This record gives sequence, structure tokens and C-alpha cells, in this order.
Amino acid sequence: MILVTGGAGFIGSNFVLDWLRQSTEGVVNVDKLTYAGNLQNLASLQDDPLHVFSRSDICDRATIDRLLQEHKPRAIVHFAAESHVDRSILGPEEFVRTNIIGTFTLLEAARAYWQGLDAAAKATFRFLHVSTDEVYGSLGMKDPAFTESHPYQPNSPYSASKASSDHLVRSYFHTYGLPVLTTNCSNNYGPFQFPEKLIPLIIANALAGKPLPVYGDGLNVRDWLYVSDHCSAIRRVLEAGRLGETYNVGGNSEKPNIEIVRQVCGLLDDLRPDAGGPRERLITYVKDRPGHDRRYAIDAGRIGSELGWQPAETFESGIRRTVAWYLDNQDWVAAVQSGAYREWLERNYSNRAPGSLN
Ligand code: NAD
Ligand code: DAU
Repeated sequence: MILVTGGAGFIGSNFVLDWLRQSTEGVVNVDKLTYAGNLQNLASLQDDPLHVFSRSDICDRATIDRLLQEHKPRAIVHFAAESHVDRSILGPEEFVRTNIIGTFTLLEAARAYWQGLDAAAKATFRFLHVSTDEVYGSLGMKDPAFTESHPYQPNSPYSASKASSDHLVRSYFHTYGLPVLTTNCSNNYGPFQFPEKLIPLIIANALAGKPLPVYGDGLNVRDWLYVSDHCSAIRRVLEAGRLGETYNVGGNSEKPNIEIVRQVCGLLDDLRPDAGGPRERLITYVKDRPGHDRRYAIDAGRIGSELGWQPAETFESGIRRTVAWYLDNQDWVAAVQSGAYREWLERNYSNRAPGSLN
């Protein structure tokens, strides 16, 4: 078995679904089910004996110890985190708790469990930590892309908490010999992404005829990767990654935000024309995100040359699949647009006067 944390969230649920499509090895899925965790993502696994779900907090050491002893996983794949930058700006405490203390608690539990394994199981055990390119900070437009040796310069409470967790993971390798691996990935998109993040938010608002909020001048650049390609990278690193190493993962798809928004509008106009006219009319420039990183770009050379991983989707194919998925799954979106979701929209967007560029 493998133990996955955060497997009811966006990337975690895609990972669990992909894993069980390709493997007969079971998954213990440990998720607290915060606002971002959704068991509907895993509905197709309801009768699958290879999927065991535990609603648990990674900060709860006793429960993590019990789950490890009960299921004896050969690997831990750690996704659980608070993941939204804007939420970290309005409420950083939960990010420190889950991303730093939670990762620390998991590392301590993993260390105790690993030390108690027999020699053969000890040698093959892995702890894979799923992290982000945001730990490297912001690039200028002409700077080379982030390599694994780029200095850590996090600029938001979210990225600082992830940077901290990366350092803890690294230290457990060097200090205790725990067999760890870390991946640092760029922006994911695809099915089951909570509609607080740029692409699903734009799709949801565009379908509802609401303003499409673009922060600042819309020229911040991100590298975009279709979620199943992130999952295949994680599987490959788990299989063959060098212990203690970090691997950057990206989609060779750098784009300014405004281009993403325009592309989503164009696809929606093709697939679901709006009587009111092209949806670009809804684009609204709003006050920028404080500390907004200007550009991220990933050099995925190491994972390509060492492990032979490449993304399968281009941005064009991935975004088309994503928009089609959201059109086909509007019930899923409606179900997550709860009272709490609406309160979040109000908190995040009410003080961003339209037209203001900073
Ligand atoms: P998400 O917010 O969609 O899901 C996070 C999941 O973790 C949710 O199911 C939530 O219930 C669970 N969780 C939160 N706190 C928990 C706790 N204390 N105990 C147990 N479970 C808890 O996040 P995501 O976008 O799927 O990201 C998953 C991981 O990948 C994160 O570590 C994130 O930093 C990293 N990452 C995300 C992206 C991206 O573009 N989304 C890119 C690179 C790396
Ligand atoms: O780079 C990897 C990171 O990508 C992950 O570690 C994070 O978990 C994930 O949330 C994502 O972070 P970003 O901040 O880049 O993603 P987000 O979708 O929030 O924003 C993408 C870009 O779009 C960013 O430049 C901010 C901008 N934006 C976002 C929202 C929500 C807007 O212009 N308007 C919006 O309403």
C-alpha cells in the first residue's frame, strides 16, 4: 500500500484516481476534508476495496501513527496543504499549522515508523513531498527558468510555509537518513480544481456572466501543467528518483494571465456561445495581489534527462479538456459553491475596486 495525504483535494484526488487506474496497489487516503477537500472527487472509488479513506488531520500524530501501523505503507506521498496564495494573505495561520507543523508531524511519524521496519522494507520505503515552484520567488522577464539549485526566496505566507516544509523534509534526509524525495511543480489545472484558482474561477464566472477579475496588469506569467502530467511525474520520481533529491516539474508553457483568460473565453464562446456576445467583454482589471510574483518558469531538465519524464499534454490540449470537463460537470461546481465559498469571494474581491491597477 501507499499512504497519500490530501487525496481529496485537486491534485491528490487526480493522483489517487490515476494510481488506481494503473495499479493494483492500494491507497490509504488521509485527508482532513477542509473546504478544499471533496469526497465527490472520489465517488467512482466508493466500492473499490483498494481505496481506504480516513478523515484525519496530518497534525494529529497519534492518528498518523495508528494509520501507519495498521496499513504498513511502503511509501507516503504528501499532498495535504493549504494551497491558495490569496487565502494565505488574508489568514496565514492555518498555512503555518498545516504546511509546516503538519509536515513536521508527518515526518516525525514517518521517521519512527521507518526506523521500526525490517531491513528490506526500510531500504525501499519512500517519503515523497509534493511542493511548488513558488518557493523560488519571482523571476524577471529575461531571467533563466528555475533550476533545482535556484535560491529559495518565497514572497507569500503560502510559499514561505511550503519553503519551510521543503527545508524540514531535506533535513530529515541529511540528519536521520529518512529516504525522502521532493518535487517542485508549476501551476496545475484540470478536473476537480476548486474554483478559487484562476482557471476554474474564470470558467465559473464566465458561465455565470460575472466579471472576470484579472489582478494588476494581467501580465504576470505562470508555467501551466495539466494535472495528470503532474501525477505521472510524481509516480516516476517515486519509482526512480534519487534519494534526498529535488525535481522541478513543469509544462514548458509560460503564459501571461490575460492570455489564459482570453483563451478560456474563446473556448467557452466556441463550445457554449453566449447570447450577450464574446465573453472577453467580462474581463475586469482589479487591484493587484500584494507581493504578487511577476513570473515563474520551470527548467524541468533534471526530471527529463534523469528519469525520462515529459508532459503528455500541451497547454492547448489540456485547456480544451479542462473547459470541456467543467462544462460537463457543472453540478460539481454548483456543489462546492457553498455559503463558505461565497463568503470567500466576498472577502477576497470586495476590496479590489475594478479598474484599479495596484
Ligand atoms: P487543494 O487545496 O486542492 O487540496 C489540499 C487537500 O489537503 C484538501 O483535500 C484538504 O482537505 C487537505 N488538507 C488540508 N489541510 C489538511 C490537514 N491539516 N490534514 C489533512 N488534510 C488536509 O491543493 P492542491 O492544489 O491539490 O495542492 C496539493 C499539493 O500540491 C499542495 O501541497 C500544494 O502546495 C502542491 N502544489 C500545488 C500546485 C497547484 O497548482 N495547485 C502546484 C504545485 C504544487
Ligand atoms: O506555481 C504553483 C502554485 O500555483 C501552487 O503552489 C499553488 O498552490 C497554486 O494555487 C498556484 O498559485 P498561483 O497563485 O499562481 O495560482 P492562482 O490560480 O491563484 O493565480 C494564478 C495567477 O492568476 C496569479 O498570477 C494570480 C492571478 N489571478 C488569480 C485569481 C484567483 C488573477 O488575476 N485573478 C484571480 O481572480
